[in-house]
Amino acid sequence: MSTKAIAGVFRTLETPDLRVLTGIELALGSHAYPPIEDIRKYANLPLDEVRFRLNLLQKKGLLRRVSPDMIGYEGYSLNYSGYDCLALNALVKAGAVDALGNSLGIGKESDVYEGLRGKRRVTLKFHRLGRISFRQTRRTRGFVASRSHTSWIYQSRLAAEREFQTLKLVHGYRVSVPLPIAHNRHVVVMGLIQGLELNDVGTIDAPEIVLNNILLNIRKAYVRAKIVHGDLSEFNVMVRKNGKVLIIDWPQSIRANHPNATDILRRDVEHVLKFFKRKFKTEYPIEQTLAYVMGQLQQPQAAA
Ligand SMILES: Nc1ncnc2c1ncn2[C@@H]1O[C@H](COP(=O)(O)OP(=O)(O)O)[C@@H](O)[C@H]1O
Ligand SMILES: [Mg+2]
Repeated sequence: MSTKAIAGVFRTLETPDLRVLTGIELALGSHAYPPIEDIRKYANLPLDEVRFRLNLLQKKGLLRRVSPDMIGYEGYSLNYSGYDCLALNALVKAGAVDALGNSLGIGKESDVYEGLRGKRRVTLKFHRLGRISFRQTRRTRGFVASRSHTSWIYQSRLAAEREFQTLKLVHGYRVSVPLPIAHNRHVVVMGLIQGLELNDVGTIDAPEIVLNNILLNIRKAYVRAKIVHGDLSEFNVMVRKNGKVLIIDWPQSIRANHPNATDILRRDVEHVLKFFKRKFKTEYPIEQTLAYVMGQLQQPQAAA
């Protein structure tokens, strides 16, 4: 189901529906496919009501029913759509979001939507791990097969948690990132950036100013917040019309004291330098630039 469609279904849900979904979520802590009895216990509703709601929720596409010939009894599990509804419900209740709008981007491992918080436009990033391309699936087939569906949902929650915590940390050190607003389950709510992915920017009057700005933010993250982004490229830098850059997509960031931090920092910087060389013919030497972002040089030096 598309995230947009989920917003429509979400509006039709009543309190007992959400209690049954929550009941499944809680029962999943001790059961891969909780039976109706366990769900009833957590939902704290009469059995008939739970049965009725489970049927309804299944018709709406918000859960998975596993038949007795698969597991010996009738069991239930959440899918991403059901999990989306639980997260949206919590975010609405917390006053973090009031409405879901248009798609801003379908990433490798996320769906990103515009939303409203009061009159303010915000961004909702739904983490969706496990949605892997065919080539990657082949390469890591053993890994994928050993992972249950609920485990991917859990991994997505961890990714969202990590991303939100990192956004808050680096934002506190004035690294240019979207404003972190709220987080629930696998969803992060942050400020909306009105701009383009660096990759989609056609021409830039002074590319070295934009590049210096990106490098300054890598430096602030490393020197002040002690964080390395870890997936930096022209796809994870947004540029506003006025040339201001913002760095997005932080779930895989690592601490600067991680044993591989310097290698990963080098890779991040190389991705950015290669892009500017290819697209804007702006060329910086890697070693000096690396020293600059690590705080060992005062200026990112342009080659002669
Ligand atoms: N705060 C934001 N404001 C506007 N657009 C965003 C924002 N965050 C993400 N996007 C858009 O969604 C795309 C995917 O988001 P990203 O965080 O990079 O996730 P992924 O891990 O899926 O690449 C981005 O490339 C960008 O186009
Ligand atoms: Mg990205």
